Amino acid sequence: MIVGAQWGDEGKGKVTDLLAERADVVIRFQGGNNAGHTIIRDGETYKFHLIPSGILYPGKICAIGNGVVIDPKVLTGEIDELRRRGVDISGLRISANAHLIMPYHVLLDTAGELKLGKLEIGTTRRGIGPCYADKAARLGIRVQDLLDEKILRKKIMAAMEPKQQMLRPFAKDPELDLQTMVQTYVAYGERLAPHIADTARICWAALDRDATVLFEGAQGAMLDLDHGTYPFVTSSNPVAGAASTGTGVGPRDIDEVWGIAKAYATRVGAGPFPTELDDEMGELLRERGGEVGTTTGRPRRTGWIDIVALRYAARLNTMTALVVTKLDVLAGIDPLRICVRYRHPDGAVFDEFPFHQSVVHGATAEYEELPGFEGEIGACRREQDLPPDARDYLNAISDHLGIPVVLVGVGPGRDQVIWMGREAEPRLRAAA
Ligand code: IMP
Repeated sequence: MIVGAQWGDEGKGKVTDLLAERADVVIRFQGGNNAGHTIIRDGETYKFHLIPSGILYPGKICAIGNGVVIDPKVLTGEIDELRRRGVDISGLRISANAHLIMPYHVLLDTAGELKLGKLEIGTTRRGIGPCYADKAARLGIRVQDLLDEKILRKKIMAAMEPKQQMLRPFAKDPELDLQTMVQTYVAYGERLAPHIADTARICWAALDRDATVLFEGAQGAMLDLDHGTYPFVTSSNPVAGAASTGTGVGPRDIDEVWGIAKAYATRVGAGPFPTELDDEMGELLRERGGEVGTTTGRPRRTGWIDIVALRYAARLNTMTALVVTKLDVLAGIDPLRICVRYRHPDGAVFDEFPFHQSVVHGATAEYEELPGFEGEIGACRREQDLPPDARDYLNAISDHLGIPVVLVGVGPGRDQVIWMGREAEPRLRAAA
């Protein structure tokens, strides 16, 4: 399983793409098109929001699990784009139980943010929160409803009715016309029908024949609805436990959980970020790391790597390994800082992530300093090619977390990675 260890945007798409090669099924388990994965393959850039990153392997079973919320407009758009570029999408499977983002969810997301004003969460405004809210309220529309116009119409009517007041400012929006909405969604259903499936059963069948299922998380632990910096979080659970409910695969079937973290930290949207850099260094990281949101185009907030939050994420996910991405961005920065504890204005010190929001909001980060490393590391392919100070930086992170670093990203290209330790050997042998 691949999960985000920070606030999302850690580079999970690239890791999923690399591991998908050896997987039989790739499945997403939560989130929706608030996520954005960029993959660079043979010099071509692909951006995905809903379709699992494994789709670039012809015929590979790539599933959207029941825990995902699907905007069919976005999904059909992605399918069209992939077809136009000649990508085989015959392996795409969509859970019949996944919930659908409706036009009123998108409008409610915007209305909710406007109402909050200065207190806004900074959502991606893709309708994610309102869709999960309807799911919990049992007013959701599911993928399977697209296949029965009568049921679809009844469910949309029931779901829209309680929202009329909040939707009043959008009363004239043609997207809210019941007849138009039903017709549009029936048309999406016709297009998606060949891909609609029982995705849990697909995973079980794969596991029963000892095949590999790769779970692709979206967002990250610190955006988790239960464990993140609530209310500045997303409306799903990006932690590993959610893969079970989000796909129907029980926890004992999962044997590896890889957390993905950048060599520094970023966050999009509002909410606490103890290691945030509001200065030139922050700007440098943003510029060098190309830290602009894939989905919304918003500049990302940047900061030093946060061990307190990462240790929390490691425990929440029972991570078996860590992947550190974008190490190249730190080249030439000296010294490098690693946040090892938080200090509250009243003097209290926190080695573990504090449960109380006021503490997190008021916390300042305390750092350990390490020497920076020089030079262009984008061409390094083996651990020993890295400058010693870069290796020391990785070792420091690994030691603090008590988890091995198995993969390091040294540039945007697919091949710009270094397999480390136990992961390096079989790959070097295979290459030889
Ligand atoms: P929502 O998921 O659109 O409701 O947004 C809630 C919060 O999660 C906001 O702070 C978003 O910026 C953040 N968020 C949602 N998806 C992503 C993602 O894929 N990467 C980074 N931040 C995200």
